[in-house]
Amino acid sequence: SSLESLDNTVPPANRQQNRSLTPVAMPHDRFKDTPDTDPSLPANRTWGRAILDRVPGSTLGNASVKAAFINDEATLNKAIETAVDKGKAWGALSGDERAAILHRAGDALEARRADLLEVMASETGKTIDQGDPEVSEAVDFAHYYAESARKLDAVDGATFVPAKLTVVTPPWNFPVAIPAGSTLAALAAGSAVVIKPAKQAARSGAVMVEALWEAGVPKDVLTMVQLGERELGTQLISHPAVDRVILTGGYETAELFRSFRKDLPLLAETSGKNAIIVTPSADLDLAAKDVAYSAFGHAGQKCSAASLVILVGSVAKSKRFHNQLIDGVTSLKVGYPQDPTSQMGPIIEPANGKLLNALTTLGEGENWAVEPKKLDGTGKLWSPGVRYGVKRGSYFHLTEFFGPVLGVMTADNLEEAIAIQNQIEYGLTAGLHSLNSEELGIWLDGIQAGNLYVNRGITGAIVQRQPFGGWKKSAVGAGTKAGGPNYLAGLGDWTPAEATA
Ligand code: SER
Repeated sequence: SSLESLDNTVPPANRQQNRSLTPVAMPHDRFKDTPDTDPSLPANRTWGRAILDRVPGSTLGNASVKAAFINDEATLNKAIETAVDKGKAWGALSGDERAAILHRAGDALEARRADLLEVMASETGKTIDQGDPEVSEAVDFAHYYAESARKLDAVDGATFVPAKLTVVTPPWNFPVAIPAGSTLAALAAGSAVVIKPAKQAARSGAVMVEALWEAGVPKDVLTMVQLGERELGTQLISHPAVDRVILTGGYETAELFRSFRKDLPLLAETSGKNAIIVTPSADLDLAAKDVAYSAFGHAGQKCSAASLVILVGSVAKSKRFHNQLIDGVTSLKVGYPQDPTSQMGPIIEPANGKLLNALTTLGEGENWAVEPKKLDGTGKLWSPGVRYGVKRGSYFHLTEFFGPVLGVMTADNLEEAIAIQNQIEYGLTAGLHSLNSEELGIWLDGIQAGNLYVNRGITGAIVQRQPFGGWKKSAVGAGTKAGGPNYLAGLGDWTPAEATA
């Protein structure tokens, strides 16, 4: 391989160009994605039931955190020093040696699948059918980045010098896969890691970290902390030893981090406001199903979720599409994850602010096709909402809400639909439902989003096959894609081989 093939400096905007409809030959090397648990097998349903029986009562209070977190300044400074010091030996291991440990980490995460599902359900209300693929993704990250570690050693004409210390700040909505992916990438690259799991999902992060320790990642090289936002900025991110920060979260958080430290070496995947476009050539039944799943899986709390569907031309008047969508949405079973028949779980905290507004207030010209209802006194359990009549340039069109509410927009033609999506400042995921290859070409050339999905839902990227990352205000920093071939290259610096000889 060459340095070019690992180059992560090309801005996402340029990477979008020169598309071709000719399928790209994929290298089928050793990597295989981990299968999810098959719920059609009675033994797996019994297994799932047993996990849910261990999840505490339906109000989902914060599960207690058993693992030790570092949470004061003196201990933190000591831990940072130790991590940088012990991280030297970690970074000096060959790619093969790190790969062996990371493959074991994948096996350890698989072995803790039930525990991970239990803590995710208990802390974040995630249903088993949503949590199970997340564990598979974490396992995939381990095996995939293990192989990527070997490849770093094999680049001709350059030597990779790992970051000394990477800070990982994941979100609560994928409390296992995202922290695992970021941590495993940094470790694979040869960097020490300090991880601060999201406070709403600290125990999910802790169980993940424990699995990595069990697999042989030294505790000094992978340190877990719990800090308030201010301390995170003033004590950790501002620390001069930190030379990479991997953030997944809101765009405002990336800005906040930058305010703590101007020269912040950030790899951030940030906000999204994503749309699926449906054209008259689409399989409308499939489109309705994929829109409903993308909008309401995990109660819409995915940065990849569909917040808008844009209906082109005659689809706007298609009774078939509307009936399928409305029937699909109203028949979703909403409930806590303890009930294995729940298809849509609670939101992370009582609805407030922008989300409460989106669940309760209509904009000008809008009306509810399905009005969201608060289902109990917790403020967390809401039935899904679908609003019609969302106007171009309106508040709902342009704002990220991160919850179970979908807006329906219409466009006269595909070009207008693309312009509607591109008017949004974010560009994370986008979907097209169309069976016309000319439309597909127009959409591919015009749409501004990091992850594009055709005739499928727009959530659930798959390691190696669909690396995940954003464009525009959905990415800050390197702009490389997690679970893809270039990700590790951003977690260190390259020096020409002669310089180190
Ligand atoms: N990777 C997740 C997805 O694709 C989002 O973070 O849905």
